[in-house]
Amino acid sequence: MRFLISLPLTTNLIKRLDVSEDKLYILGIESSCDDTAASVFQNDQILSNIVAGQLIHKEYGGVVPELASRAHQQNIIPVVDAAIKKAGISREQLSLIAFTRGPGLIGSLLVGTSFSKALALSLNIPLIEVNHMHAHVLAHFIGDETGAKRPHFPFLCLTVSGGHTQILLVKDYLKMEIIGETLDDAAGEAFDKAAKIIGLPYPGGPLIDRLAQEGNPHAFPFPHPHVPDLNFSFSGLKTSFLYFTNDQQKQDPHFIEKNKADLAASIQKTIVDILISKLKQASAQTGIKEIALAGGVSANSVLRQVLVSEAKKNGWNTYIPKLEYCTDNAAMIAITGYYKFLKGEFSNQTITASARYTL
Ligand code: KG4
Ligand code: ZN
Repeated sequence: MRFLISLPLTTNLIKRLDVSEDKLYILGIESSCDDTAASVFQNDQILSNIVAGQLIHKEYGGVVPELASRAHQQNIIPVVDAAIKKAGISREQLSLIAFTRGPGLIGSLLVGTSFSKALALSLNIPLIEVNHMHAHVLAHFIGDETGAKRPHFPFLCLTVSGGHTQILLVKDYLKMEIIGETLDDAAGEAFDKAAKIIGLPYPGGPLIDRLAQEGNPHAFPFPHPHVPDLNFSFSGLKTSFLYFTNDQQKQDPHFIEKNKADLAASIQKTIVDILISKLKQASAQTGIKEIALAGGVSANSVLRQVLVSEAKKNGWNTYIPKLEYCTDNAAMIAITGYYKFLKGEFSNQTITASARYTL
């Protein structure tokens, strides 16, 4: 296929992009939170997927926005360089740049947005803004060597990470609707905050997962919040976990140390049960049995196990991308850029980052 498209470079400067599909190299750039990432996509393939995490936040127990934006500024050039090199192309071969416009931390987004605008201008190639949440969903369409199945439209996607908890009704590549979301903390945040309470470093989600393997998930039952519709709330759970451990420590100062694995398993079970029960409700309400997971929390082993058993019970087809495409990455930004490119959805040089960019 050959594309011949007129593109807005600035509000009054138009460029004609004339490129065949096998020469269409899309650079994706992601910087919404604490990962600086770049990826090159070409002909339905990810040629490179580079992510630089930021260890600096570990000692603070969570992402410090000021430090995140500084680290992005340090990392962005080496990360983009590495992605282009790994893809085996030169910078001049890039056809367009897709970047995360939002939602996310404004300082972090500004680094990726400004860098993308400057690079696009210097190479005289077009820009495509991408919504980070949209990209988590389209990560399911990244082809991989395992030939994993891709979901069929319409499908439900539960996106769960440190920053987001949403259920989306996905009608097409560019048509999706949020049908449920958290009213306060995200599920990953609940994992991380619970982990902090029991003395685990940030990000505590994977550590809770590991520790919970030795614990009893029924040891300490925590109440489920009563949230209407398909929405979620996790801040009350964090508070009851904190009050419970504080009360127990008054009687036994070593309570946490003695019960760490049981606490991890119990809080994990509660979070997973809340997520799955809303997913079941969403499936029953919409009649959709194509169920996808996205975001860093989809790495959770119990969430995956429960999803598999619910799939058997309810006749669901389930989809979870490879872990590297579940956590924040730029391959998902590049592929979203590709689908927007096919529909002619370009941005121009007046674009600005948007912390609360909605779908
Ligand atoms: O998607 P992601 O890499 O970045 C965000 O956009 O937040 O997700 C990171 C979140 C963190 O809260 C982390 O603790 C959580 O995902 N996470 C997990 C697991 N692996 C990562 N939570 C529970 N179990 C895991 N195995
Ligand atoms: Zn994310």
